[in-house]
Amino acid sequence: MTTLSGKTALVTGASRGLGRAIAMALGGAGANVAVTDLLIENENVDKEELAEYSILAAHFAGSEDVRTASTAETIREMNANSLGIKMDVTKPDQIQAVLSEIADRMGYVDILVNNAGVMDNMATMEHQAVKMFERDVGVNLTGAFNCIQAVWPHMRKNKWGRIINISSFVGLSGAFAQPGYGASKAGMIGLTRSLALEGARDGITVNAVLPGFIDTEAVQLHRPEMRERIEKRIAMKRMGKPEEVAALVAFLAADVSRYITGAAIPVTGGADLFVF
Ligand SMILES: NC(=O)c1ccc[n+]([C@@H]2O[C@H](COP(=O)([O-])OP(=O)(O)OC[C@H]3O[C@@H](n4cnc5c(N)ncnc54)[C@H](O)[C@@H]3O)[C@@H](O)[C@H]2O)c1
Repeated sequence: MTTLSGKTALVTGASRGLGRAIAMALGGAGANVAVTDLLIENENVDKEELAEYSILAAHFAGSEDVRTASTAETIREMNANSLGIKMDVTKPDQIQAVLSEIADRMGYVDILVNNAGVMDNMATMEHQAVKMFERDVGVNLTGAFNCIQAVWPHMRKNKWGRIINISSFVGLSGAFAQPGYGASKAGMIGLTRSLALEGARDGITVNAVLPGFIDTEAVQLHRPEMRERIEKRIAMKRMGKPEEVAALVAFLAADVSRYITGAAIPVTGGADLFVF
């Protein structure tokens, strides 16, 4: 499949999990891909400082599961152009610098996938720290806004663009003991629909993808009992694979999806249906 040849894509949070699978699917479809993440191989990180930001980030930092540069290498082996770059979605200056580097080496970004996210703030209301609630919204929602704002002028000028926001089905269902996560993912749906209205004039489609439970490295950290409970409540009785979400993203990124905008599409194996 080479439906994306000639297009340049940027995927955030792509060092592992869903983001990595999405980057590979876009590369497989022929796009030039910027694989970006807060974490990159061979960097010196202060784990204690990182743990203040996210316990999951501190858990993965320095491990073999950080594959930002190596994913770009794998995509190059598939005969597509690719760069692995460190980028924090909460830092607009860093986003601008990364966009200039991408423009110099692969052209302007035509396809943006906002996948970077944090999902490790779990506490019931009396134990929620406002700082962590703000972190959830700051990364998952404002982070997506920052990236969209940075790529928007070129997409408008070019009269073509694809924004794909990786929200979650819990943006609709709610997430127990994760008010910041649930609110930020619901916010991404509102952001998607609002910007779809603006983008419609300029050939830019803006859609949200709502994954259910997907078997990524982060989700594999659940205890086996929890995993079993989760699988029981999914109609298909199994978690999804990252590639099963990435396939929809690749479709939404292609020209053929041009009449789909403002949509929030579940990829859940029926986890959002009534199950008994
Ligand atoms: N796995 C699931 O079951 C599931 C379900 C619904 C939605 N999602 C969403 O899909 C996305 C990916 O999920 P995953 O399971 O692969 O999670 P993950 O934690 O493995 O991946 C998130 C990635 O985002 C990166 N990141 C964190 N903060 C960042 C920042 N400030 N700037 C840039 N990158 C940052 C992390 O380093 C990591 O590589 C997330 O947005 C998540 O909320 C996942």
